[in-house]
Amino acid sequence: MMPLRRDGLDPVTELGEQRREAPVSKLTSVLGTNVWLVVGYEEARSVLADHAAFSNDIRPLVGKSQATGADAIGGLGSTDAPDHTKLRKILTPEFTMRRLRELEPRITQIVEEQLDVVESAGPGADLVESFAFPVPFRVICELLGLPQGDRERFRAIGHARFDATAGVGGLFGAMSESREFLIDAVARQRHEPGDGLIGSILERHGDDLTDVELGGLADGVFTGGFETSASMLALGAVTLLEHPDSYARLRDDSESIDPIIDELLRYLTVVQVAFPRIARHDMSLHGAAVSAGDVVLCSLSGANRDPQFGDDADAFNPSRERHSHLAFGHGLHRCVGSELGRMELRIALRSLSRRFPDLALCVDPSDLAFHDLSIVHGIGSLPVTFGQTSDAIPRLATTSS
Ligand code: HEM
Repeated sequence: MMPLRRDGLDPVTELGEQRREAPVSKLTSVLGTNVWLVVGYEEARSVLADHAAFSNDIRPLVGKSQATGADAIGGLGSTDAPDHTKLRKILTPEFTMRRLRELEPRITQIVEEQLDVVESAGPGADLVESFAFPVPFRVICELLGLPQGDRERFRAIGHARFDATAGVGGLFGAMSESREFLIDAVARQRHEPGDGLIGSILERHGDDLTDVELGGLADGVFTGGFETSASMLALGAVTLLEHPDSYARLRDDSESIDPIIDELLRYLTVVQVAFPRIARHDMSLHGAAVSAGDVVLCSLSGANRDPQFGDDADAFNPSRERHSHLAFGHGLHRCVGSELGRMELRIALRSLSRRFPDLALCVDPSDLAFHDLSIVHGIGSLPVTFGQTSDAIPRLATTSS
């Protein structure tokens, strides 16, 4: 599965060769269904934007064409209009700038608390276990408005989800477990509404949504926002350690923060492929003869290394001319949590560089345990040392909850 293979942080070189040879090509054929791979930037962007030609509804492929209601709901990424429109309308008010501003001090506090955990483990720690995993996990719990008691139980499920060694069985097991857990949390919040997304949606749409529907939607938020942000934090830290000038600028130069975060998102493109698109009719797709029902996979990591981004597209270069990338997708399914994700990365990576200016890997980069063939590229552990912490640099302000 070439689009999911990586060489450390980079997509494998074959992906770039494929883009140069044919930006749209046949990847494979499964039980008579062709699977096409789109690696070029313009080509991927045009597929993601064309909702008239492509559907996100994969039920015909997985043999659930009759599924309705509870079964059909939840996976925003595999839902078409009008269901998708309805679900996005319910979700977007939870991601407004006003909601994000409310969350910001809590995120800062969570980040500082996790940095305390890292520091107390000193002089070294596993940054995945004590920072990259717990920060987004706690942020999602905060966003969903899970009561403290629920969070402890939910944590075990989150761990199973993130644990690469659990394999595909463990992953799917943990996926349905998180959904069951959240359906249950919704049922309880009907009587005792929390102060997050679940409580707020119950207040606005409680009568129109069943527990299963809202639990599925909350699980979609958990699925979309947890592993993605955790991987960005871990791989972002690896990238910054390989580029100490950027790591230092995060700490000292507030103007540099946004370009560095944006370039990390492009360079790492942790979500390697977009949700599969299904061709609605026969077409010629940039020269490829695509038939109705064929699957089209857009390689976001390949598209984001297109020479559109400059001759040095394979390098990490925060001072490159800005050009909108596809790390959050594009079109109607573009990531609903993109601004929350950016905010989390800004706060967490900046605070990391302020607290641990001397952060260093304690293994050779080639020995890092990168995931193999996962849709969200990531890493199982990240052993670091940090020497002296810096008391000279003031910490970001936190407020108590
Ligand atoms: C920085 C980390 C993140 C990255 C790189 C990322 C990336 C993506 C990508 C590539 C898509 C799919 C686009 C497509 O196939 O067209 C997506 C969709 C989605 N993301 Fe994110 N995401 C991130 C963070 C988040 C967060 C923090 C949340 C919520 C808390 C979230 C929730 C979602 C949801 C619900 C969807 C489905 C949207 C739809 O189909 O309408 N993501 N994300």
